[in-house]
Amino acid sequence: MESAPLAGHRGPGSQRRATTRALHIAAQVRTSYQVDLGGIGAFLPARVPTDDLPRALRPYLLACGELPNRYPQGGGGVREWLDRCFRTDPPAVRQAVEALDAAEADALMTALAVLGHTYRWDSVPPLAERFAERSIELPPGILGPWSQLARRLDQPRVGSAWSLHLTNWRMPDRQGGDSYRAGELNRPVLRIAHTWLAPPLADQLESFSLAFVLMEAMGAAVLDGLVDAIECAAADASDGVLAALDRVHIAIMAMTLGFSRNVRPRTVDPTIWLEVIQPTFAWGAEACDAGRIGGGPSGMQLGIIQALDAAFTVGGRSGMAQMAGAARRHMPRRHRRFLSTLDQAGPLLRAFVTDGGSPELAARFDACVLALARFRVTHRARGAQYLRNRSPSEVPRASTGLTIGIHDDPVSTFDQSMNERIAETYEAMLDPDQRREVGHPHVVGT
Ligand code: HEM
Repeated sequence: MESAPLAGHRGPGSQRRATTRALHIAAQVRTSYQVDLGGIGAFLPARVPTDDLPRALRPYLLACGELPNRYPQGGGGVREWLDRCFRTDPPAVRQAVEALDAAEADALMTALAVLGHTYRWDSVPPLAERFAERSIELPPGILGPWSQLARRLDQPRVGSAWSLHLTNWRMPDRQGGDSYRAGELNRPVLRIAHTWLAPPLADQLESFSLAFVLMEAMGAAVLDGLVDAIECAAADASDGVLAALDRVHIAIMAMTLGFSRNVRPRTVDPTIWLEVIQPTFAWGAEACDAGRIGGGPSGMQLGIIQALDAAFTVGGRSGMAQMAGAARRHMPRRHRRFLSTLDQAGPLLRAFVTDGGSPELAARFDACVLALARFRVTHRARGAQYLRNRSPSEVPRASTGLTIGIHDDPVSTFDQSMNERIAETYEAMLDPDQRREVGHPHVVGT
């Protein structure tokens, strides 16, 4: 982390340098926000995800469409069929992958992640022996382009929050490639693009997956306020910071309420989630540590929470804090770029608020951090509700991904890692008295 650019008690020359530097960082944040967040101002695709690909790559889309008939129990499983469909890795496919534009590359990555993950488990609920597999031999026609594309996108060759949630949606009233605004996205206007379950369970998979899209869509208002707050801090405009932090605070609370409403037993049944929905998202093979479930999408790969941690300098030594850094590798390069500008700007914002000496500003800063902690408290309660049914010996019911090993008791491991992260969030508050809420956590919307 850089030292605080506006930290005071220096001579006029160094003060000027600090101000210049702060303005420079704030300008970088603004530019990256405009360029790297694709005009949409959220960690979402710049346009409605495309649903078409060049001819040589269309078999991947067609195969995804066939999954609901074959992947759920009773459908015969997908491995033998995908082995037959994608026996070879022809040069025409390699050339087509090379020529894709950015939106098409995302679309293919989503299709390959869907095919790769369903191949990995063969059917759901998965057979017990699938969990013991440590190495998955994908058919050459999936392995080749998936590896090639992952290299091109500089991401690991495994499904991620980006490929399996944030680019796996459509709007029935728009074409792929059409423009949209983050504020237009709500549950009724969205559909999952590729599902692998059949009705009626497909609805629950859809609700679960779209919850991540909606979270990032609501995050757009958070980012808008954060970028303004940073810019006003660099320009020494206290009132502007105050107003912007107000908007951030309101937007975080709305996001938490949305999270709480989008995944609850009425929309996603916890038993169905554990048995039929969750397993496909884990990868759980080729992990460095044989006792862990490695790979697959995780909430830690959500840009909006990463952005809040960076802007309010929520640091920490917890396992979750360390893993959150590593989780950025699964995000698109341009999103990582934006987050690294926020890493630079967070200390600037904090220093501006502490050095300014305004109790009102400090209270507003703390209200934002508290709102982030409340998201975490709400997520801890909701996550535990979904993990609760599983006994530690039931290996086939794994975690959402990374933090819960296959031999761990899921709820207590989850609680412990979330508690550490929540405590680290409270520590980022400026007023130590405010941190007292640690003992009285406030769950939103349950
Ligand atoms: C309902 C079932 C859910 C369960 C059981 C659950 C469980 C977990 C677990 C175990 C982690 C730790 C990282 C990992 O192992 O992957 C995690 C992290 C996270 N999850 Fe969830 N999750 C659920 C739903 C969601 C949803 C719907 C969202 C957002 C839309 C979400 C957002 C997050 C975030 C932001 C983190 C990072 C932790 C933090 O920064 O505090 N989760 N979740």
